[in-house]
Amino acid sequence: MSEINYRLGRVADAAEIRNQIWQGRTGYPLSETYLSDMKFEEDIRHQCARRSIRVAELDHRILGVMTMRANEVYYLAIDEAVRRRGIARSLIFLAKKKWSHLEAKVRDDNASMVSLLLSEGFVVDRLMFCKVPGWSGYRWSRRGEMAKLGQA
Ligand SMILES: CC(C)(COP(=O)(O)OP(=O)(O)OC[C@H]1O[C@@H](n2cnc3c(N)ncnc32)[C@H](O)[C@@H]1OP(=O)(O)O)[C@@H](O)C(=O)NCCC(=O)NCCS
Repeated sequence: MSEINYRLGRVADAAEIRNQIWQGRTGYPLSETYLSDMKFEEDIRHQCARRSIRVAELDHRILGVMTMRANEVYYLAIDEAVRRRGIARSLIFLAKKKWSHLEAKVRDDNASMVSLLLSEGFVVDRLMFCKVPGWSGYRWSRRGEMAKLGQA
């Protein structure tokens, strides 16, 4: 069986990345014109050029996407056909290697994402500003993870 390849998103991947983000729209609000308005694809191209998107690729198909806004995990979307195989966890692992602090905002009823974040050592940050009601901020720090490992 082919291996999943994790890599930075490339400018040429923009349309595929946009489609993958659209597939994950149960997890976050997206404009109804997300697929038709080319400004969204253009924005993805810019983000790829800034190296702020990572993808999971299998047999030359992008099946998972994680976009970052600085140290914030912004969109994380995995193709339904390959969920629950550790792809999102691997993408978070890569973000942890790059950043010593991570943030994420998640809808409270998004059980899968909440469970992923908690199992990855994120904690709820009540002070983090979330402009939409029913969303919470989560925070992870490498120092906090090391401290927990020291106590174990
Ligand atoms: C949330 C999401 C990214 C998880 O991707 P995934 O690749 O399936 O997740 P993983 O396989 O890495 O799972 C890691 C952990 O997340 C949690 N998790 C994932 N899916 C879950 C589910 N359906 N129910 C409960 N927990 C779940 C579990 O803790 C899991 O660990 P385990 O399998 O050892 O129990 C994926 O379901 C998705 O794309 N959802 C739609 C978009 C979205 O909501 N994105 C998050 C908002 S930015």
